[in-house]
Amino acid sequence: MTTPTLLLHFEDEHESALQLARAAGLELAKIERHDFPDGEFKLRLPVSLPESVVILRTLDHPNEKLLELLLAARTARELGARHLTLVAPYLAYMRQDVAFQPGEAVSQRIVGRFFADLFDAVITVDPHLHRVATLQEAVPVPRAIALTGAALLADMIAERRQRPLLVGPDQESAQWIAQAAARHGFDHAVCRKVRHGDRAVEIELPPIDVAGRAVVLLDDVASTGQTLARAARLLLAASAASVDVAVTHALFAGDALQVILDAGVGEVWSTDCIRHPSNAVSVAPLIAAALSGTTH
Ligand code: R5P
Repeated sequence: MTTPTLLLHFEDEHESALQLARAAGLELAKIERHDFPDGEFKLRLPVSLPESVVILRTLDHPNEKLLELLLAARTARELGARHLTLVAPYLAYMRQDVAFQPGEAVSQRIVGRFFADLFDAVITVDPHLHRVATLQEAVPVPRAIALTGAALLADMIAERRQRPLLVGPDQESAQWIAQAAARHGFDHAVCRKVRHGDRAVEIELPPIDVAGRAVVLLDDVASTGQTLARAARLLLAASAASVDVAVTHALFAGDALQVILDAGVGEVWSTDCIRHPSNAVSVAPLIAAALSGTTH
């Protein structure tokens, strides 16, 4: 008889872990963390681990979490885990996929290899893959699974808005817009974006009539919120009846949510890849289905 897969989680992700454990039928256990006065920390895992272990860590505010993963994954191996899966509903450092200026670190490649050195499988949702075609190119593990929240968000939008017009704020969002629109036959289009800095973006609306339409801006991630806010202002100036926002990853750095609301956006919806008051759909069933084919 094989022992069941164990799902390990950190205290601050208890709710997400509980949902995932229930959806996937996994045993659940906590990784304990002690913070020392000087800023270092130590971790403690359950002493006897089964062969198959899943570690859940969503990677918003990623820097310390990457060190947690290094310590947790290496310790899990020492304690008996032979097959280790990382479930990172939000996968950090995927946007820096080339050196835009000479000398820049290509974070996606470096952090991707870091995961591959620690884990046998990685499961994530809507990773920001722009200039690479597959997750496995960015994270070269034997099993690299990129799920999408686009269908979940599309179903939620279909329940809440009549004949919505889906708009992607930039060319990179075209992949998610196409999937979400196809599911319900929504009208759709994408804007053009030029980024001049962290908070400076220029957006050009697509050449379609938005007057009187219930527009939903859909993207993988909102960080400063400037992209969505700029697009929303232009859409409302072009006489859209309403503009709502749906994103997979609710990063919302600093005052981002307020920036988006101040632009005239009605509602902001997100998946629970990152816990946030805007969460409107759960990715637990999606990840549970992927896990059943990955763990053994
Ligand atoms: C990049 O292309 C992403 O899809 C988002 O559009 C971007 O990260 C949003 O950033 P911000 O909210 O800071 O404008």
